[in-house]
Amino acid sequence: MGDYTNMSGYYDLIMTSGYYDYEKIVDHILDDNDFSSVLEIGCGTGLILEELVQRSPNVQITGVDLTPSMLSIATNRLQKFSNISLSQQNVTQFDMQKQYDLAFSYGGVWYFVIDGENEPFMVSHIADHAANVSGIQHLARHVNSGGKLMLGIQGPHHDYASPISNGMIYSQKIKPTDHGFIKDYYLADGDKVLMSQTIHYRTYSFAEALDLLGSVGFTYQADSHRMNGSRKFLEFNKA
Ligand SMILES: C[S@@+](CC[C@H](N)C(=O)[O-])C[C@H]1O[C@@H](n2cnc3c(N)ncnc32)[C@H](O)[C@@H]1O
Repeated sequence: MGDYTNMSGYYDLIMTSGYYDYEKIVDHILDDNDFSSVLEIGCGTGLILEELVQRSPNVQITGVDLTPSMLSIATNRLQKFSNISLSQQNVTQFDMQKQYDLAFSYGGVWYFVIDGENEPFMVSHIADHAANVSGIQHLARHVNSGGKLMLGIQGPHHDYASPISNGMIYSQKIKPTDHGFIKDYYLADGDKVLMSQTIHYRTYSFAEALDLLGSVGFTYQADSHRMNGSRKFLEFNKA
């Protein structure tokens, strides 16, 4: 179910070695969007929220995440910002008793993979279909009518191994399953494996994803990934 405990101690090191571009992610969140409250689903160690709060100091910001050790790093990072609240929640059953103008997830829980001209498909950190349905329903309850959902875009998945900033080797291996894939993550220092983590992902075709999101009132904003090659999210409007 998307638990990042094993990776948490190395997560910032790996991500800030160029895996994600946090400045560009926040460029897209702020582009054309007017919101006074925002919710990040799967905020991890808070790297996006740190960039966001510095550029939008007056917005009410909430981050939720399943993995306590990821959230504890986020808490240390973000404690000086009084307009951020963090909460340990599994999206399949979360309730913040609040609605937000904007909800987004980047690499956390649900995201889209776009591979060239092929149709996008949706990837979920939650392997079970019924749990995905429940998560999407709970998510929808947290977005204001007239609000927006943004789900991140990633490139195609493949096996690779590559050095990070301190010379350690980060690698990942993908194995297909009936409804998705299993991804094994490793960090190695020479011959020594420092971290390994396995996540079972579920995938949905684009049509299935639009149905799932449409069933709770999210309508795809059709031009949201074609406007410019550097866009980081697909966008959905909430009825
Ligand atoms: C790849 S990290 C992304 C973190 C952050 N968004 C970033 O860009 O650095 C994925 C995060 O999603 C969280 N996650 C996975 N499944 C979840 C669930 N069911 N509910 C809440 N969070 C979940 C994990 O704990 C992890 O911190």
